[in-house]
Amino acid sequence: MATVARRKFVCGNWKMHKTAGEAIGLATEIVAGLADVRGKVQVAVAPPFTALHAVAQALTRGGPVELAAQDVHWEKQGAFTGAVSAGMLADACCTHCIVGHSERRQLFGETDETVRKKVGALLQANIRPIVCVGETLAEREANRTLEVVDRQVRAGLAGLPAEVLAAITVAYEPVWAIGTGKTATAAQAQEVHAAVRKILRELGGVIADQIRIQYGGSVKPDNAAELMSQPDVDGALVGGASLKASDFLAIVKGALR
Ligand code: PGA
Repeated sequence: MATVARRKFVCGNWKMHKTAGEAIGLATEIVAGLADVRGKVQVAVAPPFTALHAVAQALTRGGPVELAAQDVHWEKQGAFTGAVSAGMLADACCTHCIVGHSERRQLFGETDETVRKKVGALLQANIRPIVCVGETLAEREANRTLEVVDRQVRAGLAGLPAEVLAAITVAYEPVWAIGTGKTATAAQAQEVHAAVRKILRELGGVIADQIRIQYGGSVKPDNAAELMSQPDVDGALVGGASLKASDFLAIVKGALR
C-alpha cells in the first residue's frame, strides 16, 4: 500500500502554567523561532483558559502557530460553574481543543462518554478535537494496552460520520510516560499507533490515512525525531518541554527530519 504523507502536527500543552503575560512571552518566542519551519509542520499551543485571548493576539490569525484549549464543556451554555463552552473557545480564536487528557480522566472524572460529548460539541463549533487515549502502567503490565486504547478510541469517536473524522487528531499518551521522564520507545509507540490507525480505518475507511496520531509522554528534544520518524507517529503532544521555547522549537524541528 502506498504511504500517505501526513503533515506532522506538534502541539504544546501548557497545562496549569503561565499567566497571560508569561504566555504572551512564550508564544512570541515560539513564533519568532518558526520562521524556517513555516508551513512544513503544523504547530499549536494550548495555554490555560485565562491566557487564550492574550495568546491569540500574540499568534495572529494565519500565522505559523494555532491556538488550542485544554478542555471544554459539551453544553452550549448554562449553569455549569467553572466550565467553558466550545462556542466560547471559538470566540477566543481556538482552532483546536484537547479532550480526554489522562489528567482530566484521572483527576477530574472524565469518562469515555464525556469525551464523546465534548468531541461532538467541538465539531459543531468548528474546533478540531485532539482526543487523548492511553493506558496506565498497571494496564500495560497486565498486557491490556491495546484493549484499553481500542475502547477509548471507539467510545470517543462513536457514531461520528466518516467524513468528519478527518478533523480529529488522536493523541496516544501512555499514562506512565506523562511527566515522568519515561518515554515509550519508538517501537512501543509505533505498535499502538498502528493499532489506532487500524481502528480508524474501520471507522472511517480511507480517511484514516489523513488522521494525525500524535505521541505524547515525556517528548523531549533528544527523543522527538526518533519517535516522529515512525510511520504512524504523525506528531507530538508535548507537556513539560513545551514550556521552554528552545526545547519546544527543537521538538518541532525534530518533526522535519
Ligand atoms: P509531558 O506531558 O510531555 O510533560 O510528559 C505530555 C502531556 O501530558 O500531554
